[in-house]
Amino acid sequence: MAENTVEGTASPTRRNVLRIEDLAIDYRQGFGRTFRAVQGITLDIAPGETVGLVGESGSGKSTIGNAVLGLQPPAEGSVQVLGEDVALRGRRSHEPGPVQVVLQNPYRAFNPFKSIAWSLLEPLTAAGGGAKPGRDGLVSAALAGVGLDPSYARRYPRELSGGQLQRVAIARSLISDPALIVCDEPVSSLDASVCGQVLNLLTAKQRERELAYLFISHDMNVVRLMCDRVYVLYRGRIVEQGSTEKVFADPQHEYTRKLIAAIPDRAESLRQRAANAV
Ligand SMILES: Nc1ncnc2c1ncn2[C@@H]1O[C@H](COP(=O)(O)OP(=O)(O)OP(=O)(O)O)[C@@H](O)[C@H]1O
Ligand SMILES: [Mg+2]
Repeated sequence: MAENTVEGTASPTRRNVLRIEDLAIDYRQGFGRTFRAVQGITLDIAPGETVGLVGESGSGKSTIGNAVLGLQPPAEGSVQVLGEDVALRGRRSHEPGPVQVVLQNPYRAFNPFKSIAWSLLEPLTAAGGGAKPGRDGLVSAALAGVGLDPSYARRYPRELSGGQLQRVAIARSLISDPALIVCDEPVSSLDASVCGQVLNLLTAKQRERELAYLFISHDMNVVRLMCDRVYVLYRGRIVEQGSTEKVFADPQHEYTRKLIAAIPDRAESLRQRAANAV
């Protein structure tokens, strides 16, 4: 695990990209009642690291992802990205944030009435960048970077396959050069044949820059393939954490053991698919 300080001084190179401390998130339920979705979450991610967040449906994975994106205010605790509180940063909107997102269903993640070029530039224009000269080149480069022809810029989301559109979603998440990407079930809605390609693309992009991923998934095979470390979430609390290797080889919590026992033996085929994918 990365150190926050070296000999007592803050080191920008070693500092965590993400630091969540004792986080609790509440949802309003009406009549003044609240529902505490997650509680006591402490989690960190170092530059270049992929950290998995696993757990059954409703365990609070997306809630934590949304808190990292600044979309859910903490009821307790804090979320810091690059040493800055997310809740405070959200109020300054003149530059794209250091956290971007790739969601499960790419068709829901894009405005169906806007071209791919428009959507790709959205993180920059939303931050107040506006249309600037040279942005055509940026769009072409972004598409080429995820293996798509520049002519896709003129298309609309419905004119792309799910796998192609997820590539565009990855390109969009990269366009503002973030430090961290929240990947919330990034391959769960994709056909198995393109799943390996998209995972490969994420790995390649991480190597190009010191990009960190918070990788949310209920698919333990994908987590095993992608993640350096794993946090296991059960009913809104972290019940286990550690290196992927250790958690899979020697799970300590009963719930983790159940998750691992339920894995269909797909890991090898997924690895092979990733190796064969372009
Ligand atoms: N906007 C909301 N308002 C009220 N309750 C919510 C809201 N969003 C999520 N919840 C509740 O919070 C809990 C955690 O939900 P969350 O979406 O974080 O789970 P998840 O682990 O991402 O599940 P899945 O694997 O199905 O995506 C669930 O009980 C859910 O019903
Ligand atoms: Mg979710």
